[in-house]
Amino acid sequence: MSRTNPPPRRRRRALLTAGVLAATALGTGGLMQGQAAAAAFACEVDYSVNDWGSGFTANVSITNTGDAATNGWTLTYNYAGNQRLSQGWNAVWSQSGQTVTVEDTGWNAAIAPNATVSAGANFTYSGTNAAPTAFSVNGVACGDEDPGGPDPDPDPDPPGDRVDNPYANAGVYVNPDWSAHAAAEPGGDAIANEPTAVWLDRRAAITGGSAGNSTGLREHLDNALVQAQDHENFVFQVVVYNLPGRDCAALASNGELAADDIDTYKNEFIDPIAEILSDPAYADLRIVTIVEIDSLPNLITNVSPRETATENCDTMLANGNYQEGIAYALQELGAIPNVYNYVDAGHYGWIGWDDNFGASAELFHDVAVQSGSVDNVHGFIVNTANYGPTTEPYYSINDSVGGVSVRQSDWVDWNRYVDNQSFAQGFRQELISQGFDSGIGMLIDTSRNGWGGPDRPTGPGPMTDVNAYVEGSRLDGRFQAGNWCNQSGAGLGERPQASPATGIDAYAWIKPPGESDGSSELIDNDEGKGFDRMCDPTYEGNPRNNFNMSGALPNAPLSGHWFSAQFQELLANAYPPVN
Ligand code: BGC
Repeated sequence: MSRTNPPPRRRRRALLTAGVLAATALGTGGLMQGQAAAAAFACEVDYSVNDWGSGFTANVSITNTGDAATNGWTLTYNYAGNQRLSQGWNAVWSQSGQTVTVEDTGWNAAIAPNATVSAGANFTYSGTNAAPTAFSVNGVACGDEDPGGPDPDPDPDPPGDRVDNPYANAGVYVNPDWSAHAAAEPGGDAIANEPTAVWLDRRAAITGGSAGNSTGLREHLDNALVQAQDHENFVFQVVVYNLPGRDCAALASNGELAADDIDTYKNEFIDPIAEILSDPAYADLRIVTIVEIDSLPNLITNVSPRETATENCDTMLANGNYQEGIAYALQELGAIPNVYNYVDAGHYGWIGWDDNFGASAELFHDVAVQSGSVDNVHGFIVNTANYGPTTEPYYSINDSVGGVSVRQSDWVDWNRYVDNQSFAQGFRQELISQGFDSGIGMLIDTSRNGWGGPDRPTGPGPMTDVNAYVEGSRLDGRFQAGNWCNQSGAGLGERPQASPATGIDAYAWIKPPGESDGSSELIDNDEGKGFDRMCDPTYEGNPRNNFNMSGALPNAPLSGHWFSAQFQELLANAYPPVN
């Protein structure tokens, strides 16, 4: 849980409830006293919303206040704004212009006197979301309105009402595909039940059935419903990773979509995902989406005129398709009330320098605004698929040796942070100051940042000079913090857990440990994957890792493919150790 002061964000139902009560006894107005009243249907409609700024869930309840049962009903009402229906349940919902029609489904056609039927739907909108002021059932007005009236039924919360921290008191989905790989490794049983994320890294992954993506999204969600039976709340983690011109500063995870394939991204990737995730069958799951790792930070750090620029990142900055794609994903997925969007925010060894820090937060804010509302973003994730330690216990950014700050050491090199947790906490404040909700929470991918094993320091380094001190203290065993591919010496990090520190919603295993970051030599493939020399152990580097050795393990398969030797090393060097 990231905020300390209640009320939690997004539980705005009480404030925004329209509480429209409308009642009349249809057909009784003209009856003369003493005349036998014909049995009549009359109605009262309760309308309430759960609004998150760019969309809302509307709940309607029709009560038969008359004295005759009805068998078949059609409710109609009008919106005054641009509210657009996305999906309804418990009734057949349709919309024509500003008029919404809600028809019984057959099984709920009958409403006995004093009985109530309810239905719900999700809508998107921009601007103002005024409640409708009149309702009619079967063409007859339900009567006087009382828009200021109290909500007669404030509880329970509508399905999908977002909580501040989705991981709080929740089980998390164990991906059976990864679990099977882990369990098949010697010693792997000890961690095979840890939750890891499902990666949607190409269109085919949505339906599944192809090599490397055997289980499709629906099947995963159906599995999640089964696993959820043992838990009060349940999180399903899914990585949305298929931007046009993907991975513009590297080659190992280039994807299937070309730099200008933005329409394909929207229509054939995001739309089908949104359609599946909004299925009411999954409304009780807390769906955590990890949105497009590595993309936006690249537009800050790896573009001209910087020395670190790549041609592909310049192209993606110029065509705006990273921003447009992410804004679209945030909008479509953010319209689903039980989806929690977490945007990738790089890691301390990337965004922790002053030049990158504020500029990245500003770009994230711009893209969130482009999506229609900053509230489409529930939080951010750091260190996805990376190796930076969660904390460096033996030195801190505030230390100095002989009056020389650790910031002046070769390793820290003027960065403001030495580990991901302090970075995540600092960056969270920066994001809030840029305009994000003060309730945003951070995730840290701890799947491979443990740095245990025999080489792990057990205390601070010598105070002889600042470099000796940092070198002796740091857990991070890389040649340079910009190294990212299959790092030699790394171990599994903190096991997944909720609310580990202030501002941090969870430690999560997003990169499934044992899946390669990239091949160590060129391997032909039909996945769009390139060969990046950062995955070649003999490579001596480039401006993005300050010309250091890559530190990559040899004999690695394509990114995403199972890499048994890496899994074994991660297990052996786990910290906390795996018993
Ligand atoms: C790859 C993806 C893979 C993911 C998880 C990425 O580096 O590009 O194809 O699904 O890692 O292992």
